[in-house]
Amino acid sequence: MKKINTLVCPVALSGSLDNSIRRWLQNPQKILSPYIAEGMTVLDVGCGPGFFSLEMVRMVGKFGRIIAADLQEGMLQIIT
Ligand SMILES: C[S@@+](CC[C@H](N)C(=O)[O-])C[C@H]1O[C@@H](n2cnc3c(N)ncnc32)[C@H](O)[C@@H]1O
Repeated sequence: MKKINTLVCPVALSGSLDNSIRRWLQNPQKILSPYIAEGMTVLDVGCGPGFFSLEMVRMVGKFGRIIAADLQEGMLQIIT
């Protein structure tokens, strides 16, 4: 039977997902800009504390929509 990995990044470590080194290595604006434009509706599955979601909000503008989904309620509390 196939083993399923059920480990997730704990909410207590969510702060480690956003730091200057990561922003330099994985610049959200650079990564997302080929795919996201103003007015789009975008689903961010596994959004965590919002490293990518918050940049998405800026990119879609006031007529767009970001749906940020995470299985951990604690992550969603951070993002809102
Ligand atoms: C490593 S974190 C990355 C968070 C964010 N996307 C980032 O790049 O910083 C992965 C997140 O995905 C969430 N996650 C894992 N499996 C999921 C699932 N099946 N549905 C929704 N969220 C999930 C975890 O709770 C965790 O917050």
